[in-house]
Amino acid sequence: MHITQDIAYIGVNDHDIDLFEGQYDVSENGMAYNSYVILDDSVAVMDTVDRNFTEQWLANLDAALDGRTPDYLVVHHMEPDHSSNIAVFAEKYPEARIVASPNAFKMMENYFGSGFVADRRMPVKEGAVLELGSHTLQFIGAPLVHWPEVMFSYDAKDKALFSADAFGKFGALDVDEDWACEARRYYFGIVGAFGAQVQKALGKVGGLDLDIICPLHGPVLSENLGYYLDLYNTWSSYGVESEGVAICYTSVYGHTKQAVEELARMLEEKGCPKVAVSDLARDDMAEAVEDAFRYGKVVLATTTYNNGIFPFMAQFIETLAEHKFQNRTIGLIEAGTWAPKAAKGMQDRLAACANIAYTNTTVTIKGSLDETSRAQLELLADELCGIESDPQLKVDAVTQPTAHVAPDPEPVPGVRVQER
Ligand code: FEO
Repeated sequence: MHITQDIAYIGVNDHDIDLFEGQYDVSENGMAYNSYVILDDSVAVMDTVDRNFTEQWLANLDAALDGRTPDYLVVHHMEPDHSSNIAVFAEKYPEARIVASPNAFKMMENYFGSGFVADRRMPVKEGAVLELGSHTLQFIGAPLVHWPEVMFSYDAKDKALFSADAFGKFGALDVDEDWACEARRYYFGIVGAFGAQVQKALGKVGGLDLDIICPLHGPVLSENLGYYLDLYNTWSSYGVESEGVAICYTSVYGHTKQAVEELARMLEEKGCPKVAVSDLARDDMAEAVEDAFRYGKVVLATTTYNNGIFPFMAQFIETLAEHKFQNRTIGLIEAGTWAPKAAKGMQDRLAACANIAYTNTTVTIKGSLDETSRAQLELLADELCGIESDPQLKVDAVTQPTAHVAPDPEPVPGVRVQER
């Protein structure tokens, strides 16, 4: 398939994979590993594909070459979903030179052995160029988008950017689906921790005259490129993409879930433009991560458990922190039968995240929802919607008589204490 007169697509679709990178669910729509070839006076192959698709990729390459022989293999990224077939290529085309960043050559030795393609290496750094004839590739360093060796390349003739993992998405190319949803889940899952590095790379790309973006996953982008560049700028600067509230919760016996459902209903009734609810134990956690980064306000609701917080919530907050979650307003709902303390547990873990503001209202559910906790939910909903609350609500939220709260029992060795 030709993208332009001289650039052909030679990638593959993977519908056998269940978990991309061993953790991201792609069982429904699969994954694409993109590879391209530029046919000019010289022929440059742009990256290889996953190890399970060697024969199909070589057949695609053969068809595109139409009897010609590659002069170069340009390696933008060494992660095995793109680099697995470098050794196969090097053996099949012994005259071809391998073009990559110096860091990529170190990684090639790790994968393929000391001295791999030592006599055919063409290390390139920022600003280096490769003349192919009418096309000239200009190399752009993009370290940590997503690994340290990554580089982009730019072909001024076709105004094409080869962007490695950047602008990629989950999903095979023979599946029709919305770009942003699966590109966002991909971005925050895989590249989200490296926002500063993505910003730096975007700064270099900003001055280029672009008609086409050729990523290593997902479709070739050739229309309305400002839309994709703007989203990448928002995502990598940890900005708010959409107005709304993400509610992420765990619930053991259903009381926290009931509170979340009531809060969601209140928010919708008060005009919140979007409420996205995730059960962290049952829904795809990568979707919940995506929503937490997408919206400006996040409610976390969980149970007190073993004197801390429920495991799926602990994992979720740890994942957010690992991905540099920041610049958000957080509301907390805690549950516990005799000594709820999950709000503090969540706050302690969120201390690793920068620029987090908390709502004035924290909801405490002692056993099950009652008038006090419902008043707190109403106050929280008002705060999240920017509504001035009825003063009586504040009174109700704090002055309802509460049941006697017993002190923490002495721990019994070997017994796990669970609240709901
Ligand atoms: Fe598609 Fe970072 O590999």
